[in-house]
Amino acid sequence: MSLPPVDIAPYADRRRRLSEQLRAAGGGIAILATAPHAVRNRDTEYPYRHDSDFFYLTGFTEPEAWLVLVAGASDRAILFCRAKHPEQEIWEGYRCGPEAALERYGFDEAHAIDELDDMLPALLLDQPALYRSFAAGGHVERRLRRWQAEAEQQGRGRRRPPARVQDLRPLLADMRLVKDAGEIAAMRQAARISAGAHARAMRAARPGMHEYELEAELLYEFRRHGAQAPAYPSIVATGANACVLHYAAGDAVLRDGELVLIDAGCEYDSYAADITRTFPANGRFNGPQRALYDLVAAAQEAAVQATAPGRSWNDAHEAAIRVLAQGMLDEGLLQGSLDGVLESGAYTRFYMHHTGHWLGLDVHDVGDYRGGESAPGAERPWRALAPGMVLTIEPGIYVREADDVPRRFWDIGIRIEDDALVTAEGCELMTRGVPVQAREIEALMRE
Ligand code: GLY
Ligand code: MN
Ligand code: MN
Repeated sequence: MSLPPVDIAPYADRRRRLSEQLRAAGGGIAILATAPHAVRNRDTEYPYRHDSDFFYLTGFTEPEAWLVLVAGASDRAILFCRAKHPEQEIWEGYRCGPEAALERYGFDEAHAIDELDDMLPALLLDQPALYRSFAAGGHVERRLRRWQAEAEQQGRGRRRPPARVQDLRPLLADMRLVKDAGEIAAMRQAARISAGAHARAMRAARPGMHEYELEAELLYEFRRHGAQAPAYPSIVATGANACVLHYAAGDAVLRDGELVLIDAGCEYDSYAADITRTFPANGRFNGPQRALYDLVAAAQEAAVQATAPGRSWNDAHEAAIRVLAQGMLDEGLLQGSLDGVLESGAYTRFYMHHTGHWLGLDVHDVGDYRGGESAPGAERPWRALAPGMVLTIEPGIYVREADDVPRRFWDIGIRIEDDALVTAEGCELMTRGVPVQAREIEALMRE
């Protein structure tokens, strides 16, 4: 059963802010569908997850729902949702229905989803612009085209549907980039639960266990604290598996002397956490593991220091790669000079991903990493960080077996990932409920 959010004011406020933007651009109509059900196999569906943009503007989590915003002389927010259906609710559970939705969610109008096709063509008439997601699926495309065609007919040449069609996503992405107090509270809770799950997995880990047993510890901890789901498939990777960036928890056995990399986070009230920790299966780092581990921890610390309001998006990444590249030279993984390996990109052999991404309703959250105007012929500059933005800081190092690589480093994959909220002074790491320093991890694992 999906209940309305305790406080609907933030959702109404977002709709109002979006409408203001549409009005400032000449007015128009915005149409947004939530996510469709996805079939897993035959008549079994994947667990349902609403569309993040749709949720951001409505707080409404039921499937088969559409939001229509009319921004003009007066704003209208109209919800279409499943009608009440007592017999079907016996099988599938509670449905809010339009009458209750109108009252509980603060829309101006709410109608049964069956009325959508009848009502939409008329709503399109005389609107100067149509805003919709350019990434919506075929089912949305087809309906929009049909409504446009029907509106043409209904208008009989005197009234017209919008001539201008624009993507709604960039407007919402900019809004979603800066989190409000309610969003931050949900993200802190997702972070807290996820950190607890990582600590639990570290305590449970022993040589001889399977990766999936550690995954089970994570899932247990997520769910027992009320997280609705993992925010993404958990990575639990022992030994060489840690060098496969998107490895899913499998059935490999943790061996004495190996490192285990876990990248897992829960979704709490629709908001994601994203944490990675790397620890020794037997509770003690060996020398080469510890050398590379401390290197990644130092790179992360440099990136944390570069995460503050006014700093450019890419400063943290640049700080991290400087530390990592120098460490790779010091440890004999690379040869040459620091400037040389930074310039040539030689370090990407062992560190091939970026140091972070936006985090929010989606684990790789929306939002342009660049902003502002560019000089002619140049790329747009990186966006400047501002309070309320949330991003991950996740440097790593991945060393595969190779003749030109010192044997002591073979099959070591390490990543350390925390979730940072940009504050007025710098950043707050929301995920430090699980330790990062090697000595603290060893102490936790001895408990
Ligand atoms: N868990 C996905 C990522 O770290 O980006
Ligand atoms: Mn991440
Ligand atoms: Mn991650």
